[in-house]
Amino acid sequence: MNNTEKKVMFSGIQPSGDFTIGNYFGAIKNWVKLQYEFNCYFCIVDLHALTVPQEPAVLRGKTMECYAMLLAAGLTPDNTTLFVQSHVPAHSELAWLLNCGTYMGELSRMTQYKDKSVKQGENIRVALFDYPVLMAADILLYQAHYVPVGDDQRQHIELCRDVASRFNNMYSDTFTIPEGYYPKTGARIMSLSEPTNKMSKSDSNENGYISLKDKPEVIMRKFKRAVTDSDASVIYDEDKKPGISNLLQIYASATDSTIQKAEQECRALSYADLKIRVAEAVIESLKPIQSEFEYLMKDKKLLEEYMQKGAQRAEATAVKTLNKVQKKVGLILRK
Ligand code: TRP
Repeated sequence: MNNTEKKVMFSGIQPSGDFTIGNYFGAIKNWVKLQYEFNCYFCIVDLHALTVPQEPAVLRGKTMECYAMLLAAGLTPDNTTLFVQSHVPAHSELAWLLNCGTYMGELSRMTQYKDKSVKQGENIRVALFDYPVLMAADILLYQAHYVPVGDDQRQHIELCRDVASRFNNMYSDTFTIPEGYYPKTGARIMSLSEPTNKMSKSDSNENGYISLKDKPEVIMRKFKRAVTDSDASVIYDEDKKPGISNLLQIYASATDSTIQKAEQECRALSYADLKIRVAEAVIESLKPIQSEFEYLMKDKKLLEEYMQKGAQRAEATAVKTLNKVQKKVGLILRK
């Protein structure tokens, strides 16, 4: 199947911090498979990152690292259009035009905005409120059919569908109405220190998460400190044994196996040995990614070239949609 016959998939990822094995086993690893099945656009959303205060040099560095890590993890420029959001101005331009058709009331209902604005205290940026509209622009520019995202993004996808349908009804068919894509295969990896919470790179306790950049000895140390329980049996039971279940899930993900098989394989181990076994499996599975990442980070020129090609390819599609919208709302296209 060539790319024009495949359904379009779009997703965005924030360059906000190091990716964890939660991001990798839960999402990125899946994207690597999806890129052969769909016409994939994956975008590093640096403009979204700016909706909360950022240190400029840090943001630039993270964007670079994020790009390199996604390549290292197996996204290939032949199969995926991987690009940086701010490199394609059509995102900001369409966001403005969509702003003209989005209601204050709809955005006020977004739970992510409510949560994040509480954390920001008094000086909440207008952009934080407008975040979902930029996200809608991201998706709609590529006429995406599917948007793989976490559960926390459901409401934003709904908003995107509402805004797109309203536009289609008001003018004429312009946007493909996208659907959220919530694969069942993505693993839900929990924190090592508080296994009832999702593993997160913004965890204040570094022992809670494994970064894809963590060195083998750090990975080993963090697993050795993983919270388990006072029982001694290696059994998968999310409710009663969240720590052990999480370790088994991680082991299954790292060895490309199932939870049942992981459980069988590890049943006879002590907790101490189980932790070592899981750590070794993770270290092994990250090895090729880490060496590729290091290689790419040493060659900024090469990375910039990839970025440029990605942006060009993305832009070619994005501009077509943008121009259609501009015409329909009554703007004069620049010759
Ligand atoms: N809001 C998404 C998140 O935090 C990131 C994102 C931005 C996104 N634009 C997108 C995801 C477009 C999917 C499609 O996870």
